Amino acid sequence: MSLWQKHAIFEKNSIVLLLGILVMIAVGGLVEIVPLFYLKNTIEKVDGVRPYTPLELAGRDIYVREGCYLCHSQMIRPLRDEVERYGHYSLAAESMYDHPFQWGSKRNGPDLARIGGKYSDDWHRDHLRDPRSVVPGSIMPGYGFLENTDLDYAHIQQNMKVQAMLGVPYTDDMISRAREDVVTQDTADSPDAVDLAKRYPKVNARSFSGKGGRVTEADALIAYLQKLGTEVDFKMYDDKANIR
Ligand code: HEC
Repeated sequence: MSLWQKHAIFEKNSIVLLLGILVMIAVGGLVEIVPLFYLKNTIEKVDGVRPYTPLELAGRDIYVREGCYLCHSQMIRPLRDEVERYGHYSLAAESMYDHPFQWGSKRNGPDLARIGGKYSDDWHRDHLRDPRSVVPGSIMPGYGFLENTDLDYAHIQQNMKVQAMLGVPYTDDMISRAREDVVTQDTADSPDAVDLAKRYPKVNARSFSGKGGRVTEADALIAYLQKLGTEVDFKMYDDKANIR
């Protein structure tokens, strides 16, 4: 019996064909998946990426609570139109401390992966209060109540502990100081800001919603937005690529 005739067993018997397909897919799957279990990390390390500060983490929770991800993505794809509009495409490392990640799949509004530093805190405050006051044709809903609601950060330490269980490198020191750190980051010219920057390099510390002495939900959300996409210094990479 030639090889060609042996193959007829598969062609004439659907159950045998099905089993054959399953075996082939299993082999392909194993070759792809098994090596991943032996790699410590599939994300390339990138300089500058740090975990969220307690205030930013609380802001991120508000972002999730309010469903901002239903209209906004946080993942710039390596396509020319996106890179020209939003900046360097997103790196895996930039969302390595996001649990759960906020890549999103809807873009009723613009991508927010690099929104940090694009606008002033005042702009964000006005925009959250009434989007139409700064972008006349906007269809984004207003979130004015955020600046009138005190941030509830009673559980911030538990929150950080859970993040640490998921692999975010929060130290015991960071967790034990979390509640003071929330206030320090939201205070203009705080003497403790230097110490805060040791734990969280390049941290923005100032009164985000301009309501000194009060930490509101808007403060946390703006602190979070102002940090997005600002960690990696892409100029460093571009300079290396452009040999002059
Ligand atoms: C119903 C959809 C929708 C929801 C929900 C929504 N947005 Fe928007 N957002 C938009 C649209 C549309 C724009 C573009 C017009 C504008 O700037 O207002 C926008 C713009 C923005 C911008 C400015 C982006 C830029 O690059 O100019 C920011 C920041 C922003 N949204 C943050 C948020 C946050 C934070 C939340 C959750 C509290 C949120 N959005 C919820 C639709 C939405």
